[in-house]
This record gives sequence, structure tokens and C-alpha cells, in this order.
Amino acid sequence: MRVISVKDPQEMSEQAARLIMDRLRQKPKLVLGLATGGTPEGTYQKLIENHRTEGMSYRQVTTFNLDEYVGIPKMHPNNYFYYMKHRLFDHIDLPPEKAYLPNGEAEDLQTECARYEHLLKKAGGIDVQLLGIGVNGHIGFNEPGTSFESLTHVVELDESTRKANARFFSSIEEVPHQAITMGIQTIMCAREIVLLAAGEAKAEAMTRLLSGSVTEQFPASVLNHHPHVTVIADEAALKRTGNR
Ligand code: PGA
Repeated sequence: MRVISVKDPQEMSEQAARLIMDRLRQKPKLVLGLATGGTPEGTYQKLIENHRTEGMSYRQVTTFNLDEYVGIPKMHPNNYFYYMKHRLFDHIDLPPEKAYLPNGEAEDLQTECARYEHLLKKAGGIDVQLLGIGVNGHIGFNEPGTSFESLTHVVELDESTRKANARFFSSIEEVPHQAITMGIQTIMCAREIVLLAAGEAKAEAMTRLLSGSVTEQFPASVLNHHPHVTVIADEAALKRTGNR
């Protein structure tokens, strides 16, 4: 695992955007795995800026998001499609039909999970997957205890995750209890992974991640078994790891 230590969230976003644009230059038909949450917002902003100023094109790109809440309508501000549309998709030239997210409003959620896996395979798998990390070590919505063999599946959200995400809702009661997420195995199939972390709230998670011990109780630890992972984290997130 390569660790890039940066000063602050701004530098984290710049580095992450630079890495994605490098890969895009090498492979215009890039299959890009995307994440939501607070952490990648700055990266999307940088990609948009570059698209505007340098004309970096996403015409041939396909994107797959990690996860989606169950039961939040597409046009609701907390829906992840809505998040992606407003923070990235509407501002670049990515063809809308090539931007995939799990459908959290599907009538049959199991069928939706299988459909998503099928779409990923059909696209040839993910070239670069962007990841955040939960305070409990979750990646996507794979909470502690999730099998490393898991594919896209429906999850019951951990209380700590619901609490952490309550800041995006008007109250914790509004935070859904379920989500669809790529599984750990799905994520591990990505050819390259870029994990972002910023802020002191992530310091303990980063310590556990970089300790090298691998356990299903701390989902992100599986990344220690992946051959091509870059962690881009700021000083606050790395403060207890000796990596700053
Ligand atoms: P955050 O979430 O970027 O909002 O901190 C990260 C995650 O839960 O994966």
C-alpha cells in the first residue's frame, strides 16, 4: 500500500484528481469507481475545474458508484445519484447512460444487486476505484463483520454510520437503515484503488488500516491484500500512524 501524506484536504483532492486524470489520459475508456460522502467532494470539484479549463473529456468513460441508500428517491438531496449529478455528472461530458449507481428504489433489491454485478462484469471491471473510509473502517457500506467474499448486496447500516451520516439529513431518524453496496470482493476486483482520508475523525481508522493486520471486523483492512492501493491522506488523518 502506497501512502501519500498531504498537508490538508485541499491537497488531498488535488492529488486524487491528478491521479484520476493521469489514468484517464492513459486510457480514455476508463471504468471509474466513484464514492460519495464528504471526502471526495473536493476531488470532483478539481475534476470539474480541469474539464472546464483544460477540456479533459469523459465521453468514453463509464462510472460505477459504490453504494446507494434504500428507499431515498432519486431527486431527494440525500440520494447518491442526486449527489453525483450535482457534484460531478452535470458538470462534465460523461454520457448519462454510462453513469451507473445501484437503484435503491428497485422493487426487488436482490435482483438489483445481481444486475449491478452483471453490469460491472459487462463493462470489463473497474480500472480505478475511489474510496473513502468510515470511522468504523467501512468501505462502501460494508460494515464490520462483512464477509471478504461478499458481492453487491443489501446491508443494514451500522448505528455509527447512521450517526456519522446524520449530518446530511435533518435528523438521525431520517437516515435510512438499509443500503445497497458493492461487496468487499467487488471492490477488491478493481485493478487499482485510491483511498482518501482527511481529518482527525479518521485518525483511528487510518492507524488500524496501516497497522497491516487484516480482519473482517475492520473491512478496509482487506486492502492490505490488494496489489495496487494508493492512500492519500492528510496530516490530521495520519497523525497517529508515523506516516505524516
Ligand atoms: P465521509 O464518509 O467521506 O463523509 O467521511 C466516508 C465513508 O463513510 O466512506
